[in-house]
Amino acid sequence: MRLVVTKMNLGLWAAAYVKEKIHAFAPRPNHLFTLGLPTGGTVVDFYANLRLFYKEGLLDFKSVVTFNMDEYVGIPQDHPQSYHSYMNRHLFCEVDIPPENRHILNGQAENLAFECARYEQAISQAGGIDLFLGGVGRNGHIAFNEPGSALNSRTRPVRLTSTTIEANARFFLNDASRVPTQALTVGIGTILDAKELLFLAAGTAKANAVARLCQPGITADCPLTALKLHAHATLLADLAACSQLTGPLKSTLENLIKKNPYDQHWVLDWEEK
Ligand code: GLP
Repeated sequence: MRLVVTKMNLGLWAAAYVKEKIHAFAPRPNHLFTLGLPTGGTVVDFYANLRLFYKEGLLDFKSVVTFNMDEYVGIPQDHPQSYHSYMNRHLFCEVDIPPENRHILNGQAENLAFECARYEQAISQAGGIDLFLGGVGRNGHIAFNEPGSALNSRTRPVRLTSTTIEANARFFLNDASRVPTQALTVGIGTILDAKELLFLAAGTAKANAVARLCQPGITADCPLTALKLHAHATLLADLAACSQLTGPLKSTLENLIKKNPYDQHWVLDWEEK
């Protein structure tokens, strides 16, 4: 497991990382790069930087396929807070990802279980996900895999917890009663199948989840800890998100910062025993 603690803007760091990955892969029509994508407040800057790279001719998406992690059930796709609208607003409106290469779960499907099975199949048909980006819920959820989700779960309909509903109320006129109570989400198993994972955590609201990731143990109570089951997983965090670290990783980070205080970021690698 790798923890990158950065002083830089997380979105710029992540967008630059994705750009390098896409360039190194050298995608072309018969060799498409498959990117798993999140939504949420943390990644707004990430998308702004991807759009900027595209505008400046530093990156193109002609041979990129995208799969979003999740979507609400119970609001139409053209609702301003649906993840369809979010993706159109933050990325699809300005870059050249071919429309047929953009995949988002359909929370309006008549048969939700069928829709989830179809999505899993589409990911397999695309050859799996090369790089899956994600955010972190305050309660440690990844995508909409709430605490208690099986570590091998697949794409499925889920109920949102009250913590998530309250956290997301800020996108729904600060009115929790407007937040959908159900969603479709890729599973933890679906996420772990990706070749590489890059998750982002910013601010003290995520500090408890980050602290749990950095303590020993992998538990369904904190889905973020499942990242430690993956051979190539990185959590990119700011200092505020690392403010509740305890134990050996806390001292390692403090020592690193003391030794290299002018660095822009510090990297910690460890193996779960
Ligand atoms: C939502 C999304 C998650 C995301 C989380 C964090 O619940 N479904 O995939 O990781 O929010 O969002 P934010 O970055 O707004 O804190």
